[in-house]
Amino acid sequence: MPTRPIICLPDPRLKLVSEPVAQVDDEVRALLDAMLETMYDAPGVGLAAIQIAVPRRVVVIDVAGKDDPPAPLFLVNPEITWASEELNVHEEGCLSIPDYYEDVTRPARVRARFLDRDGQQREIEADGLLATCIQHEIDHLNGVLFIDHLSRLKRERAIKKFQKAAAKRAEEGM
Ligand code: NI
Repeated sequence: MPTRPIICLPDPRLKLVSEPVAQVDDEVRALLDAMLETMYDAPGVGLAAIQIAVPRRVVVIDVAGKDDPPAPLFLVNPEITWASEELNVHEEGCLSIPDYYEDVTRPARVRARFLDRDGQQREIEADGLLATCIQHEIDHLNGVLFIDHLSRLKRERAIKKFQKAAAKRAEEGM
């Protein structure tokens, strides 16, 4: 399955609120599969549909270690149903904000409800990297990027850097 181009900051589509999926059908499964390929190819540990310019509430995640077998998670219409009061700081990056990493503070543990690749309702409880990743990807569905959790100064610096890079690419006709 071919990979899809990933859109990057400052693309305004990253600010869109994605639409819920009415039914997990073959078309949604094809989208999930294309997203997984694209994520593995990048490589990354999570991808939301809006990152390939599809504004639907669809996410793929795989936080398995390099030497472990793949463990893909397909999340359709995911929702956080519970978050711990305990917080955790994790260094985050994003395929739509390449080569930029910052510490982000979020709840350390969450429960999330979602439809899986077969349209079955499921709930998982996560901690560590998976908890961070689930929250980061659900943020994407609401038009929120991890830099939105940083101080205004850091966020503006990051946005400026990517705006400059985009302007330079446009100038060079790339
Ligand atoms: Ni991201």
